[in-house]
Amino acid sequence: MFAIAIDGPAGAGKSSVAKAVARALGFTYVDTGALYRTIALYMIESGADLEDPAAVTARLPQVEISLEYGPQGQRTLLAGRDVSEAIRTQEVSMAASRWVAHIPQARAFLLDLQRGLAQRAHVVMDGRDIGTVILPEAQLKVFLTATAEERARRRTLQLEEAGQPAEFEQVLKEVVQRDRQDAEQLDAVAPDALRLDTTGLSFDQVVEKIAELARARMEPAGGKG
Ligand code: DC
Repeated sequence: MFAIAIDGPAGAGKSSVAKAVARALGFTYVDTGALYRTIALYMIESGADLEDPAAVTARLPQVEISLEYGPQGQRTLLAGRDVSEAIRTQEVSMAASRWVAHIPQARAFLLDLQRGLAQRAHVVMDGRDIGTVILPEAQLKVFLTATAEERARRRTLQLEEAGQPAEFEQVLKEVVQRDRQDAEQLDAVAPDALRLDTTGLSFDQVVEKIAELARARMEPAGGKG
């Protein structure tokens, strides 16, 4: 199997880039942030004290997560219920970033699930620790970055397009806060990752660059000769 790991800070455009790369190559796009979000959703709904790592850890065995892949891409199920939309709220986002992602037991809980997916299909997996922890043997690792201002600018546009206009300054503040929450533990760069700063690059340029690299690395393994 061929795996592409795409890591980087919040708002670097990982998910849209990873999705487009997967489409270009016919791979499966795996959104691993959805898993942290689903744990967060479970904890919120079941009334767990998210600020208490022991309380969250104790409830992990009750969290039944499964992923399905179809024409609409990845659907995330919690005990059989499709929570793909429910995990996108600001509350879940902050809970995942602030609490769940920092609990080692939660990270360990999700490890086999993520590795299993990469064993069954060619994947483009995006997250924070894919190239370092989850798939250290990935054939291609990319660390996607952009300046905080650029990421805030893109996010502001996205919100506007979604009919939820927001102040750039406020969005920038949130981006910087997420960076601080995620720093060190989450934003480690694999030594063999390609660092790609997307500030000033077009979306298509970024996607094409990654797809090209992947194709170049797949060819020798294709066993044509
Ligand atoms: O990519 P996202 O915003 O959906 O991720 C939600 C949170 O989960 C993010 O703040 C960091 C965390 N996360 C992680 O720690 N490791 C991953 N592989 C993916 C996400």
